[in-house]
Amino acid sequence: MIPSLDPNESHPSIPSDSLPLRGWVQGLRGNNHVQFLQLRTNGKILQVVCEKEALGENLFKEIKSLPQETSLVVTGKWQENPKAPGGKELLLESLSIVGNSQDYPITPKEHGPDFLHNHRHLWLRSKRQLAIQRVRSELSFAIREFFRNDGYTLIDTPILTGSIGESAGTLFSTEYFDLGQAYLAQTGQLYLETAAFAHSKVYCFGPTFRAEKSKTKRHLTEFWMLEAETAFLGQDGNLDLQERFVKTVLKSTVERCSEDLTILERNPEPLLAYLNKPFPRVEYGEGIRILKEKGESIEWGEDINAEREQILTSHFGTAIFIQNFPRAIKAFYMKQNPNDPKTVLSADLIAPDGIGEIIGGSEREESYEKIVERLKEEGLPPEDYSWYLDLRKYGSVPHAGFGMGLERVIAWVCGLPHIRECIPFPRMIYRLTP
Ligand code: 4AD
Ligand code: MG
Repeated sequence: MIPSLDPNESHPSIPSDSLPLRGWVQGLRGNNHVQFLQLRTNGKILQVVCEKEALGENLFKEIKSLPQETSLVVTGKWQENPKAPGGKELLLESLSIVGNSQDYPITPKEHGPDFLHNHRHLWLRSKRQLAIQRVRSELSFAIREFFRNDGYTLIDTPILTGSIGESAGTLFSTEYFDLGQAYLAQTGQLYLETAAFAHSKVYCFGPTFRAEKSKTKRHLTEFWMLEAETAFLGQDGNLDLQERFVKTVLKSTVERCSEDLTILERNPEPLLAYLNKPFPRVEYGEGIRILKEKGESIEWGEDINAEREQILTSHFGTAIFIQNFPRAIKAFYMKQNPNDPKTVLSADLIAPDGIGEIIGGSEREESYEKIVERLKEEGLPPEDYSWYLDLRKYGSVPHAGFGMGLERVIAWVCGLPHIRECIPFPRMIYRLTP
């Protein structure tokens, strides 16, 4: 008997193993008497046992030659098998083909990264890729959960913007009707600051864009950023919040995704060990001193690159905050440090093992005059920021915030060397398709 294909039957409240199963042939192996069909259903791979004796010669022959990625509806009886994925397998009783597949390009043999990225639309079906996207989904959920539990309001900030959010160097721009240039948002921060003066505690979570010319393992041109902004919060409170946030969401993701981490052969223990230690707060100047001591030729005032970030995280043996960077190398909105006016009350959170900067944040400059001065230094026209400057006119308060790059954190959780697999369709300097 062929089970019906009533689409209403697969309701989310029905457990994922309820019969019939609908899915795709991920793989097939076996012999002349029994075939083990790996069926991908609801993103999980289940084993379907097909026995010649029970099914008959013809159906068994048909199953044995089913091409990879044929879509199927199957039914049968569940039986326990500790060796099968999930500890059980389906003993097949009947099967019907929904859609044929021929010459599926991604086979069990090894393929190079370029080939796989060219076939990203199909590569998403592979076991490791299923696991990575599930980690992404769980992490995104944990992020929203954290801020909701903490009383933050979600504010969706615009993607098309009229003013530069971060720096002029890495902008995507487009003609915008009669209004001149529009830019793709590099950050939601400036808008989020305005919303923080409405709701006190706000966050945004969405895609951001940087025309980064760098071909590194840590840069995408489109990446997702979580940003939070809090009124009446200073630098220390901002770092307390970041540390609590990162530890909470990473621990719950590791716990909820333990099966996925096993598929990725990622032992979560070293990560959890980092998360169980306090993250040291290292002054920028102290970081430079340590780097010099270790033989690096770096001077106060220079930015700390990825290799040197790693030297510092190895030195401290965990994730570290580097705080109070030189004012000249940081964005215009960061608050001047009252104890050391050459620096700003900023901090980057650096993850160990070569992951690098996962968070950038700061206390925000409250003074109208100082922001205007910094905008001019950066060559940004203050009149484009009149709406942002209004915050400093109508009830200005100390406030602070931060932004965390989602893909870098996924790479850290999954133990991946490159962030390009951490987003379904990566956008890089040399890749725009699929
Ligand atoms: O340090 P960034 O540039 O900070 C901001 O955009 C602030 N406006 C955030 C805020 O305070 N609300 O970026 C924040 C984080 C980085 O630490 C990094 O994790 C990630 O975003 N990031 C990137 N991730 C992937 N590809 C890129 N090209 C990235 N650029 C930044
Ligand atoms: Mg940064």
